[in-house]
Order: sequence, then C-alpha cells, then structure tokens
Amino acid sequence: MVVRDSLFLVLSVFLCFIVQTAYSDDGYSLWMKYTAIRQGGKYQRAIEEIALPGKSETCRIIRGELKAAFHGLFGNEVPFVDSIHGKNTLLISTPRNSEIIRKMVSGAQLRILGQEGYLLRTIEMRGRTLIVIAANDDIGLLYGTFALLRFIQSHQSLDVLNIIARPKIEHRLLDHWDNLDRSIERGYAGKSLWKWNDLPGKIDGRYRDYARADASIGINGTVLNNVNANPKILDADHLAKVAALADIFRPYGIRVFLSINFSSPMSGNFELEGNRKGGIGNLSTSDPLNPDVRLWWKNKVKEIYQIIPDFGGFLVKANSEGMPGPQDYGRSHADGANMLAEALAPYRGVVMWRAFVYNQDVDSDRVKRAYKEFVPLDGKFLPNVFVQAKNGPLDFQPREPVQPLFGAMRKTPLMLELQITQEYLGHSTHLVYLAPMWKEYLDFETYAIGRGSTLTSIVDGTLDHNALTGIAGVSNIGDDRNWCGHLFGQANWYAFGRLAWDPGLSSEQIADEWVRMTLGNDSSVVAAMVPMMMGSREACVDYMTPLGLHHIMQTDFHYGPEPSYDKGRPDWTPVYYHRADSIGVGFDRSSAGSNATGQYFSPLRETFDDLSTCPEKYLLWFHHVRWNYKMKSGKSLWGELCGRYYAGTAYVDGMLATWIGLEKSVDPEIFSHVKSRLEKQKTDAVIWRDTCLNYFQRYSRMPIVH
Ligand code: GCU
Repeated sequence: MVVRDSLFLVLSVFLCFIVQTAYSDDGYSLWMKYTAIRQGGKYQRAIEEIALPGKSETCRIIRGELKAAFHGLFGNEVPFVDSIHGKNTLLISTPRNSEIIRKMVSGAQLRILGQEGYLLRTIEMRGRTLIVIAANDDIGLLYGTFALLRFIQSHQSLDVLNIIARPKIEHRLLDHWDNLDRSIERGYAGKSLWKWNDLPGKIDGRYRDYARADASIGINGTVLNNVNANPKILDADHLAKVAALADIFRPYGIRVFLSINFSSPMSGNFELEGNRKGGIGNLSTSDPLNPDVRLWWKNKVKEIYQIIPDFGGFLVKANSEGMPGPQDYGRSHADGANMLAEALAPYRGVVMWRAFVYNQDVDSDRVKRAYKEFVPLDGKFLPNVFVQAKNGPLDFQPREPVQPLFGAMRKTPLMLELQITQEYLGHSTHLVYLAPMWKEYLDFETYAIGRGSTLTSIVDGTLDHNALTGIAGVSNIGDDRNWCGHLFGQANWYAFGRLAWDPGLSSEQIADEWVRMTLGNDSSVVAAMVPMMMGSREACVDYMTPLGLHHIMQTDFHYGPEPSYDKGRPDWTPVYYHRADSIGVGFDRSSAGSNATGQYFSPLRETFDDLSTCPEKYLLWFHHVRWNYKMKSGKSLWGELCGRYYAGTAYVDGMLATWIGLEKSVDPEIFSHVKSRLEKQKTDAVIWRDTCLNYFQRYSRMPIVH
C-alpha cells in the first residue's frame, strides 16, 4: 500500500512536471508559437488543402513550416495535394511551376515583385476560392508564407487578401559582434550561437531555427563575427566552418558575410594582449597599394567563393579604436575599401566600410570625426562599396540627432547601422521597445535636397537612385533559451527585420503584430502592451539622458550612470560630454562652440544652432545651457531636467503595474520572467535618476523638484 501510494505520488509529480513544462513558455519559439485558434474553423475552411508544386529545399522548408503551423493553429493536418481538388485551396508557386499562376499573374506584376517579393491574394475561380502566394523565386514564396501565417496568427481575415510586397532595401543584415571564443561584444543573452569548435562536423539544430526566425521577418544576410575581427576567421579551418553555416542558411535566403581584420595578410600575433593587429599571412605589410597585399586578398576571396559561392562580402572596421587600417600606411579609407572591392567584384560581393571612426588623438569634438574623414572621399569608392554609418554621430545613445554624413555623400551608397543589442539602453535587463527610436531616425528630415530627403530616402536609395541599398542591425541574439535575454528583446529583433523590409511600417503596427504572435490575441493584453511598449524608449531617455544629454553611462560597461567619471581618455568620459559647471550643462556644438551644427543642411543647421529654435530633445547635445534658462514648459532648465528624470521613473512604475495586471492573461513563465526584469528596471531607473540629479545638483545648486 505504502509502495503504491508513493509510486502514485512520484507519478503525479512527474505528470505535473510534464504538464507544466508542456504549458509553460520559455520563449524559445519566438513569434512563431502557432497557438491553437479557438475559432479556427473559418481559417480551416479557407484552407482545406495545400498545393505546393516546387521541390527545392526552400519549398521543403515551406512545407514543414505549414505543417507545424496548421497543426498548432488548427489542431489537425491540412493535406498537401498534387492537383487542386477541393473548393478552398492554398496555392503556393512560382509561375514556372504552376499554370494557374502563369495565367493569373501578369508579367508586369512579376517585375514589380523582383527577386524577393511575393503576391498574396484571395481569388475566386470557377466556383473555387484560392489563396495564392506567388513569387518569381522560391524565397519570395517563403516570405509570402510567413506573411500568411502572420495574418492567421493575429486573427486577421483571409477573405480579401490582396498584397503585393517587396523589400524596400536590398541588403537586410544582422551584424553579430561574436568572437571566436563565443563571447559576444556587447552581447547580453549568453554566448554566441556559433559553436566554432564543433563546426563543420557537428551541426547544432539551433542554426536552422535562427535562419528560420530571420527569414520569417525578411532578414537576408548575416555577418557572423565581431567588427573587432580576429584574422583567424579567414584561415582555411574557419572558412570550412563558415561554409557549413552558409549551407544551412542558403535555403532560408540568408547569405553569409564576414568582418575582416585589415592586417590579415600579415604575419604577427593578433592575440597578444590588447593587440588588434597581426594576421594569418606572411607579409610584412597590409598597405592597400602594395601589389602583394592586393594579390593576397584576391586569392583569399577566390578561396572563399570556391566553397561559398553566394558569399556576401566583407564588413570592415578600420582605423578605429585600435583596429588597423589603410591610414597606418598614409592611405585613405577609399584606398582600403577599393582594394577589397576589387577582389570581391567578380563575384558580386560587397564591402561595407564602417564610418565609425574617431581620432587616435582626442578630437575636440568626437562627433564631427566621421563627417570630416568621409565627406572628402565621396565619389572615390568603387560601386560595390557601402559606407556603413551608425544612426547617430556618436555611438548608439538613447537619443542622438542623425549622423550628418547621411545626405552629405550623395555619390556613395550609405548603409545604415542600427544597434538591436541595448548597449546603452539597459542591456537585456530593461524593457525598451526600439522601433519608435529607429523610426525617429528613419523619418528624420536631413534636407539634403530640401524637404523629403529623409534618412529612409537615402538608405532605400530613392533620393539618389542608388541601386545598392542596405541596413544592418547589431544583433541582440545569444544562446540564452529565449534568444535575447529579455523576452521583449525579441520584439526589437522582430521590429528590426520588419523595418528593414519596409521602413514605412509604423512602430505601433509592428508592436501589435509582435504582441499578438508572442503574448496572444487577448484584446486586453494587446490594448495594454502596445501603448506600454510605444512609450518605453522615451521613458528610457528620460531616466537616463533627457534633453540631449549623452554618454553619461558607466565607462566601458555602459549600463548604469556615472556622470562624475573623468579618468582616462577624455572622449570616453561622461564629463567630456555633459560639461556641467556652475553656469549650466551641455556640450556647445553651436557655431560659437565646436560647430558640429555646421555639418547639417539648412535649415537644420540654423535650427540646431540657435538655442531658441533647437528642439528641446537635442538641447544639451548642441548647447551649453544655463541652469535657469526658461524652457517651453515655463520651467527652468533645472526644473525641466528634474521633471524628466521623475517622469522616466514613473513610467517604469507604470509598466510594472500594467504587467502585474496581466498575470492571469499571459503564460506564467513569461509573466514571472518579465516581472522580475521590470522590478530590476524599476530599481535601476531610480538609481539613474538619483545619481544624475544629485550629481548635477552640485553644479545647479537648486533644489530637486518634481
Ligand atoms: C562601441 C562599442 C564597442 C564597439 C564599437 C564599434 O564603441 O562600445 O564595443 O566595438 O562601438 O561599433 O565598433
């Protein structure tokens, strides 16, 4: 009896455990949960069978995705058929493989779709209803399939689908700052996904899940390694590993790119402590005009394309933060980029040459450096070179004005670099939805040729009719079970992909999609989460760096506040940036100061230059402002600053309360994970506020008011 009882107990605990694990959500499945739709009948009736004639690997992936999705969403299988029998069929095909598509889609429409676009349409045909996904290429079919699944997952109607979609930007890349030892520079979600020691023999299942997630949001390229590149990535051993990853990613439409170290052709020990130079070759120089160096790169590129025929190209950080580059030999960025571009051109590879540079000797104003170095080189780069610039002129701060290079290099394709990983926005601890920030940049009017010269128009090539277009996001992905550390970090990965595909999408729409697919369609959850996410970035600006303050984070770690720190290299210290004194606070970048305002086009230049017209969100970025300066609210600068810091922390309190209110409506594991992060964010936001206000008060000598 006792034995039977204890057996029963063990069994129930075990069953309980299974049920719990089966129902609790660890975040691994991202936005592709395919949770059962309670009223799924109407969708099932709309899709009685699937006709997918293609046989490629990509089509095999589509088949698998639909099987899994419909099994989850409807609870049963939808049959695949060779020819259409039923009344309601999902037909997925290129014109090559289907006569119906050949008849239905005109040549003009197919031209609009390009290589990656798709058409998604509901049509009535001889008493039948077809949902059609058509594309020129199988990859378009995969993108169209994910679009259809997005509609179903967010419970939208399939009755009158009529969508023609193609990406606005050609290269949509994730940049992984992953090192070969699997550490990740500025990574806060565990180790690198790439298991270099196991590759190429052992293939981790997660590589496919990664590619699938990227494809589901239209990402079509991945830079595997850190911009502070270890030259070993180019040795034969590592290239075989890279090729194995490329083979896995290819059917998902993802091309592989590599960051390279400019001194790769040289001999020398890169790994000596602190050393970023030295390579895997046997040359004594990496001078880009040296014929041996040029030959070395040509041979290396040939070797790469022999094993990775669709290799994307190189990302290069040169002459920046100790990385080697052409300037070491008195050559220009263009000399360096063109040498690589020449080697890659026969294979249609590209060079992404980074504009994130600043001087060895400290600049009087670091934010002016990229413009100074690159604008004179406009027109000197080969056609397969991008100059890749961060969104702002400094370094991924919670708020910066746009990098003035955008619009100032009209003869060079500029690739936009955004940071998904939250280096300066609370790592993977703070809930900060980044789409509204990215939209602020994308919609930014540069006035390069008058109104309408938005950052988007430069990046998507429409302003200057550039054929080469690109956008990159520094990845926030690691081997944490939920990929991004914070569940809401997934929303930023998702939003980056969606905006890269179409920068015209609104942040709200993207948040709405993500919430529905990740947290469920419960209207109370959607109604609470979307606005909460939308305000989270402004709140972060408020409790960290309001009114144009910047770079007052802990040195190097960049998490908490450290406004008082003034040791080491001046342009790595907060005091260099905030310049607080008894008169006021802020960096004078007006024409009376460093004249960074002069790098913008009129009328922005004048607007920013004049204290009375400078938008208050950039005030302390461009001006040193008196503590008692009267703000638009009627408050003094000091009063406004206090108000902003307190508003930021109050918002975080609100986020926590809102989340707690959803306890019954979201998965328990997700609930407690997000709750504990929000609690930490609440504590940290207060630390930010109090540290900064107490520090600045030493100079303002005014009481803290709120
Ligand atoms: C920042 C970041 C570095 C990174 C650099 C870059 O400075 O802190 O870790 O290497 O940007 O973008 O190259």
